[in-house]
Formats: sequence, structure tokens, C-alpha cells
Amino acid sequence: MAPSLLAADWGKVTEEVSRAIHSGADWLHLDVMDGHFVDNISFGPQMVEAIHESNDIFLDVHLMITRPDHYLPRFIKAGADMITVHVEADHDVSATLLLIREAGVKAGLALNPATPFEEVLPYLDQIDLLLPMTVVPGFGGQSFMHDMMAKVEAAAAYRDANGLHFHIEVDGGINTETAAIAGKAGANVLVAGSSSFQAPDMKAAITAMREA
Ligand code: DX5
Ligand code: ZN
Repeated sequence: MAPSLLAADWGKVTEEVSRAIHSGADWLHLDVMDGHFVDNISFGPQMVEAIHESNDIFLDVHLMITRPDHYLPRFIKAGADMITVHVEADHDVSATLLLIREAGVKAGLALNPATPFEEVLPYLDQIDLLLPMTVVPGFGGQSFMHDMMAKVEAAAAYRDANGLHFHIEVDGGINTETAAIAGKAGANVLVAGSSSFQAPDMKAAITAMREA
């Protein structure tokens, strides 16, 4: 379970991170948006560093930015534990994944809803996590795209048939109902923004999604 900070109260970020930890979060999902790759601007390495300094939770940094290769060293230095880059961004994907792993950081690869699974095939032996997006990235609170489960199933089948070991993460519209659907399709890391931070009882919400 990886709650997304995007849905937290940004007026008290470190308290919100503590609340996620005490509610049973395994990882904290940090959405970095550059106003170019997606139509929204969030935060950069300075925020990642402040969170890293305040606690020990595993930081799952999702870069929705056009030049992940250029900004990568700053996110590594800030204390990211996992860095996920998009296959659609403007970079040499293999080179970026290698740079992440050489720094001792886990490497993730994300693909947008419109991108076919085949686009990530060349990189599956170079990643620790695959993220088939279940919404068009940019904003929290959108509806889960059920069609994306075919991609999750294809990724799990390909991984198992080829002796690979990457995690499969889903991100966007996850709640207790869709968590069960995504888990059944083969996802083992669930990002949840609105349904965790904005739940009346975050601990109960995270527990329910994990159990679902
Ligand atoms: C979307 C982000 C997500 C977002 C999910 O661009 O990548 O991580 O925070 O939010 P919910 O869970 O509200 O759909
Ligand atoms: Zn995300």
C-alpha cells in the first residue's frame, strides 16, 4: 500500500506523512509533475528531501516530467528509494534506468493508458517495478480505467513466463473495490491518494484496501 501524498493536506506535510506511516503505509508515493509532461505542477527534489529527512518510509517517486534523465541526480540525492520514469518521456529509457540502478535506487517504468504494453517490452529485464497507469496522469481523484487490467495481466504473464521479478504497481482511482480488481489481475503495489488521505479513517481505509 503506497498512499499518494498528492491527496494529503499540504499545509502540514510532515504530519501527513506520519499519519500515513501510522495508518500502515508500506511506501509513500510522491508524484512529481513538471507542468509539461502532464497538465499540473506539484513539487520537486526539495520536497522529497524534506520528507526523507523527517522519517524512514520507503519513498516511491513517480516522475511525470519530460526530462527524467536531466533531473534524476537531484531526486537520487534527495533520498528517493524508487524512481519511476515514463516510457513516453523524452529520454533514452535504458540509459535512465541504468543510471537509477547504478545509484543503488530501485528503477520503475510507467506507461500511460494510451501506451500499449508492447512499448515497455524492451525494458522489462531492466526494472524493479512496472506501472501501468489506471488514469491519465496529472490529477488525483479520477476514475479507475478498468480496460487497463489487460495490461496488468499481460505484464504478470510475461514476467512469470520469462523468469523476471518486477513489482506491478497500479496508480489512479484505487479504492477497496478497484484494489481487489487490480490485485486479481496481478498488481501487488497499490497507490491510493484520495481513498487513503481523504478517508474518514485512513488506517481503516488502508487496511481494507490491503485485505481487498
Ligand atoms: C495521478 C498520480 C496519482 C494520484 C492518484 O497523476 O500519478 O498518484 O495521486 O490519485 P487517486 O488515488 O486519487 O486517483
Ligand atoms: Zn503517481
